[in-house]
Amino acid sequence: MGEMMKKMHELGCIVPSIKNLVIRNLKNVTSEERETILKKTEYNVFSFPAQLLLVDYLSDSGTTAMTDRQWAALFLGDESYGRNTGYYVLLEAIRDTFERGDNRKKAVNMILTGEKSVENLMNNLFLQNTEGGFVNGGIFQLMRPNAFIVPQGRCAEHLLFSTLSKVLKEENPNNESFIPSNGHFDTTEANIHTNTISPVNLFSENMFDDFPMEDVYTKNPFKGNMDAKKLENFIVQKGKGNVPLIYLTLTNNTAAGQPVSLQNIKEVRKIADKYEIPLFFDACRFSENAFFIKEFEKGFEKYSIQMIVKEMFSYADGFTISFKKDGLANIGGGLFFKDKGIFHKRYSKKSDIGIMLKETQILVFGNDSYGALSGRDIMALTIGLYEVTEEDYLRGRITQVRDFALKLAKNGIPVILPPGGHAVYIDINKFFSGTDMMTADFGGVGLTIELIKHYGIRGCELGPFAFEWDQKNEEQRKGILNFVRFAIPRNVYSKEHIEYTVAAITELYKNKDKIPKVEVVRGKELHLRHFQSGLKPVYKK
Ligand code: F0G
Repeated sequence: MGEMMKKMHELGCIVPSIKNLVIRNLKNVTSEERETILKKTEYNVFSFPAQLLLVDYLSDSGTTAMTDRQWAALFLGDESYGRNTGYYVLLEAIRDTFERGDNRKKAVNMILTGEKSVENLMNNLFLQNTEGGFVNGGIFQLMRPNAFIVPQGRCAEHLLFSTLSKVLKEENPNNESFIPSNGHFDTTEANIHTNTISPVNLFSENMFDDFPMEDVYTKNPFKGNMDAKKLENFIVQKGKGNVPLIYLTLTNNTAAGQPVSLQNIKEVRKIADKYEIPLFFDACRFSENAFFIKEFEKGFEKYSIQMIVKEMFSYADGFTISFKKDGLANIGGGLFFKDKGIFHKRYSKKSDIGIMLKETQILVFGNDSYGALSGRDIMALTIGLYEVTEEDYLRGRITQVRDFALKLAKNGIPVILPPGGHAVYIDINKFFSGTDMMTADFGGVGLTIELIKHYGIRGCELGPFAFEWDQKNEEQRKGILNFVRFAIPRNVYSKEHIEYTVAAITELYKNKDKIPKVEVVRGKELHLRHFQSGLKPVYKK
């Protein structure tokens, strides 16, 4: 007998999980033309017209290519002002995704197949009185609202923290409050801060540990975890009354997109219980996080992604989410909390927190059944939630990101390993080691400018420029990492795009001496200045 023939996944290459049915032709732009555009847009990469790029890694948010089923559902969008059809099927999809594991109802199928029975529609979709979970239904959603649809993640954050801050102020106007996290995303941090609460990051201790390239497919140290010991010390030090919420970001975008283990979720939950503090998730990339748990956490190999998601969320009191990531949608977000759970009880002493949240939602985003989304968007999102938890899709997605990082690492480029779920991060301090590039020279920005100019590829600096290194004191500077991020849109790019990008970055790495230092010539003092300031590259003579 000869050797066993290899199976599909043993061939050493990516097994296809999608095929293209619609394509967009790219424009043939020269590097001279891109240089002119860069000059005219003040070298700010956010201002570069997307049509004139070849590959765009600025964000994985809202940049997803929708599936044929999402497009099909979009046609069934209902643009009514009150209780559009999408509202009901989306709420059901959220219950299915976050609470029902393998026992999904898929109520959306009734709409897709044109269900005629009014009785069935009434009993199983429109008039269900559901309570006790993340999404009350029928009369209970009116009495105790706990599900809020909004256009994107930061709207949910604004809704939550502006309301929470009001409640806290009423309770005690002089209290100083803190919200610890494994890593707040920048909008989360800004929304907490704007509402006079202090955001705190308790990154995992192993975050900067080296990781061998050859172990990427077999091991994962879950560098996105929260440091649980530090959390408990922090609560004891500040007093549990001054910690209104604990946050876990899944996956941890600020910490290079690294996943969080179920063990860590449980540890944090235990501490939350001990001190009676509600635990919230920033759940933007919940499904990618679940895939890492399935792949690498002992005991979960045989679980379905759906069951892992159910288990993850059984430890949460609530969550904010941007469906522009793991919702496979181009727009959409939400805030959800457990009916009659610890968050609801703790913050509804004077008036129901859900009613307060709903009033703000109506004021800012429109009524609760559409939350500033069109009915079409809601239908596409509903289907997206089912597609994003498919294991085959996730394997293709995570493998693509991994393949990108490994190809760079093999060419000697310093990337963060293991790669996270949605992006590849280059360690800029290591990238420029051996050159005269200093932190204040914003070498990461120089790299992104050259990538656009020479090759039509857009990445994003998340380092001393974006985080205002020059405007901060010694202590604050310690928290600034120095990365350039390549966030990969879902279902958009193929192997050609990745290989082209790897070749381009490698060529610039070989020529790193030629990468310019960068000066901020307009808007140095602006907040979130990477979106709005003007820059000038300084080339060596
Ligand atoms: N939380 C996390 C972890 C995020 O990554 C983002 C957005 C948000 C919240 C806010 O969601 O954009 O819908 O308002 N991240 C995008 C990115 C913008 O490129 O990383 P949003």
